[in-house]
Amino acid sequence: MSRIVTLDEFIIKRQKDFSYATGELTGLLRDIGVASKIVNREVNKAGLVNILGVEGSANTHGEAQQKLDVYANDKFIECLKNSGECAGVASEENEEFIPFPAFESKSGKYVVIMDPLDGSSNIDVNVSVGTIFAIYRRITEEDQPIELSDFLQPGLKQVAAGYVLYGTSTILVYTTGRGVNGFTLDPSIGEFCLSHRDIKIPNRGSYYSVNQGYYLKFDLEMRRYIDYCCDLNLGLRYIGSMVSDIHRILFQGGIFLYPNTRKYPAGKLRLLYECNPMAFIVEQAGGKAINTQIDRILEIEPKELHQRSTIVIGSPDMVDEMIQFVDKYSAVSSH
Ligand code: AHG
Repeated sequence: MSRIVTLDEFIIKRQKDFSYATGELTGLLRDIGVASKIVNREVNKAGLVNILGVEGSANTHGEAQQKLDVYANDKFIECLKNSGECAGVASEENEEFIPFPAFESKSGKYVVIMDPLDGSSNIDVNVSVGTIFAIYRRITEEDQPIELSDFLQPGLKQVAAGYVLYGTSTILVYTTGRGVNGFTLDPSIGEFCLSHRDIKIPNRGSYYSVNQGYYLKFDLEMRRYIDYCCDLNLGLRYIGSMVSDIHRILFQGGIFLYPNTRKYPAGKLRLLYECNPMAFIVEQAGGKAINTQIDRILEIEPKELHQRSTIVIGSPDMVDEMIQFVDKYSAVSSH
């Protein structure tokens, strides 16, 4: 039997690969690991305690907020605030970013952008949810207060990104720009253990993932591409929880699409909280991520914290094929 490598061990070992590393990023990733274990415990027992259901507050976008959203948000913020490595957080659940006071007179050099519980409308029916995070080096000087500009950086500037999938087992997948690795939580020892080393996305897969219920609301090129997927007899898989849908594609290949609809003309998903971190991970695994205008997600200059984006992400050959449909049909539909 091969020796178990825990997340902490792995992160520390990887730190040595960066000659300039001071251990702060290492500490930050470990804190995120700890917070996700705490959230995992709550997600797992959600059916047992009175934590299911709507908290009674609405988040900044007027969406009903689930109790576990609030819990996860609080726990991640608490862990990051006490870490000393993080100068502030922007969360999908909060209107503004949250600056952290200097910890033991030390101000962190990183900021974290996160969606603490993505897919939370699935919780009440026991469907998998996830946490998504992105870490950026701050732009402002460390002795100055952080500013909005520290968060409004294109995804290419991510130092690390990852997600935690609270599924049949809990898995944490992350990248620091040198490949992607996955760690499964072993509940018996309470540790994330390396289970998926150097993940590579297949060039193509046999699934496509889109909310096909909105088919008639999609632009022509998107409808034609979906028709093409049907012609190819691809299987449709859609959980409605981005982390779960993309996790499957990362391992089995395929394509995930969330285009513009009449309700969401700019797309539904958030550029900073959802699209950028998932794009960084998928690209690091050899995949591609673009919006429906064929701009690379990671190169989009964000204008505001809660900006939405369309997204097409997954196996490289399938994303390339989808681009051909945009080239061919978007010109037709604009006439
Ligand atoms: P929420 O956190 O409000 O449940 O939203 C989930 C996100 C994302 O995870 C998922 O891919 C998408 O919204 C699903 O949206 P539709 O229900 O419109 O398909």
